[in-house]
Amino acid sequence: MNFAGKVAAVTGGGSGIGLALAEKLAALGCRVAVGDVHADRLPEVRRRIPGALAMALDVADPAQVSEFAERTVAEFGAVHVVCANAGIIGPLGERLWEVPDAGWRRVIDVNLLGVVSTLRAFVPRLLANPPGHVGITASMAAVTTSATMPAYYATKHALLSIADSLQLQFARDGHDVGVSVLLPAQVTTRLGESLSDVDAPGNPRGISPAEVADRFVTAVRDRRLHVFTHPGSSALATARMAQVTGETTP
Ligand SMILES: NC(=O)c1ccc[n+]([C@@H]2O[C@H](COP(=O)([O-])OP(=O)(O)OC[C@H]3O[C@@H](n4cnc5c(N)ncnc54)[C@H](O)[C@@H]3O)[C@@H](O)[C@H]2O)c1
Repeated sequence: MNFAGKVAAVTGGGSGIGLALAEKLAALGCRVAVGDVHADRLPEVRRRIPGALAMALDVADPAQVSEFAERTVAEFGAVHVVCANAGIIGPLGERLWEVPDAGWRRVIDVNLLGVVSTLRAFVPRLLANPPGHVGITASMAAVTTSATMPAYYATKHALLSIADSLQLQFARDGHDVGVSVLLPAQVTTRLGESLSDVDAPGNPRGISPAEVADRFVTAVRDRRLHVFTHPGSSALATARMAQVTGETTP
């Protein structure tokens, strides 16, 4: 895809990977719409990306996601790329059978149903203006296991499946719209601040969000579905599958 003159929308674009995706796409000539639940981050988005549409958005509310899509098209005339990126860590460190219902619901509402709502609102608009591309920010949590973040890992596993299903459906129906699911390990962002139950100091280790955005752009150009961003990620995914198939024990 030639990004110049295209329109891109990014959820959770007020910080971290989403902000880097928005900046990268803008640098390549896209007009950009950003939605984020932290409205206080939007002025900085507008400052860093002149001409960006930046609006308050909680992806857990389907009506707000629908309005985000409507306003993007009203502002820029079309939309070609959507990055379903917003996510939170959710309950941490609790035994999963003791995590209260509200903890499960918020992380599922944001990480899983927020992506579903984003697809519902944007995919018909992408199909109306091909070629297009859907980006979904999952995580290495989609292909590995954890004792400490069961709800987060469950939602990220679901996103891998959704990305695969989406790509199969586009191919089956002959749509010129690609899908890329990002599978980053640690990235230096503010994700730790989204922990609901501990006072976490952010996420100081890992690669930069800009590096993840670079990988995304390359994946769009290559029409690559599964996008690892860290060295060794592929081996970790292979090791997990060996456990699943019984070739090794956990
Ligand atoms: N940082 C990492 O190490 C890492 C690794 C793998 C995957 N990820 C994924 O990357 C994505 C982006 O996270 P990040 O690391 O850039 O964190 P971040 O916290 O820096 O950025 C996430 C942004 O999403 C916004 N957001 C949170 N809930 C939202 C909601 N309900 N509606 C709209 N916006 C919302 C936040 O306000 C924030 O600005 C997430 O899906 C996360 O799971 C992060």
